[in-house]
Amino acid sequence: MIKVSNIHKRFGALEVLKGISLEVKKGELISIVGASGAGKTTLLQILGTLSRADEGTLTIDGHRVEQLSEGALAHFRNEKIGFVFQFHHLLPEFSALENVMIPGLIANRPRKEVESYARALLKRMGLEERLAHKPAQLSGGEQQRVSIARALINKPAVLLADEPSGNLDSRNRDEIHRLFFDLRDELGQTIVIVTHDEKLASTADRCIRIEDGLIAQ
Ligand SMILES: Nc1ncnc2c1ncn2[C@@H]1O[C@H](COP(=O)(O)OP(=O)(O)O)[C@@H](O)[C@H]1O
Ligand SMILES: [Mg+2]
Repeated sequence: MIKVSNIHKRFGALEVLKGISLEVKKGELISIVGASGAGKTTLLQILGTLSRADEGTLTIDGHRVEQLSEGALAHFRNEKIGFVFQFHHLLPEFSALENVMIPGLIANRPRKEVESYARALLKRMGLEERLAHKPAQLSGGEQQRVSIARALINKPAVLLADEPSGNLDSRNRDEIHRLFFDLRDELGQTIVIVTHDEKLASTADRCIRIEDGLIAQ
């Protein structure tokens, strides 16, 4: 589902990624760990096409990403990639249901279909009683579950999460982690999670450690 080959990324004189190669199969749940500043977010943003590598190739769901124009890339990202960040990044003026629907509407899918899938996803997240709540009226765990539903609305080829539980207490953290494993099992969802959580890292199908700009063996 994801294939990266010899990815390099520099910020000025600083070479953060020095030749990362990685393959993720459909339905795999991969964790990425490493010290703060190791380049985990940089790698995830490249995998998510939010940032371009200086060298190397990236193939997602059979598409060679670096060959796409900026416009084609934005479209590709909206349809193929779901993001979950440490902070939920929900839009404050919109309800939970509307927040989940927005990427589906941007993709020009029929409103009825988008709304019914958004409702189903929020129900799956245990939030059927929270559809009309604004983000500020939700707990941290609930906000994060809304943002996971939003990430899934376009049935993305890959779900990328950057320290999704980093801001949560231990009960909510465990719940969110269980949810990721359930999504892999129920939807065959391909998932890459950057985490500091040892338990999550060790129970993933594979754990990748970034060290000195490379994957540590
Ligand atoms: N846009 C940027 N401009 C300059 N330096 C950056 C930028 N983004 C990240 N870096 C640097 O790259 C390194 C890796 O950052 P990051 O990928 O965020 O690490 P991690 O997520 O593993 O903590 C850090 O030293 C950071 O300061
Ligand atoms: Mg980071």
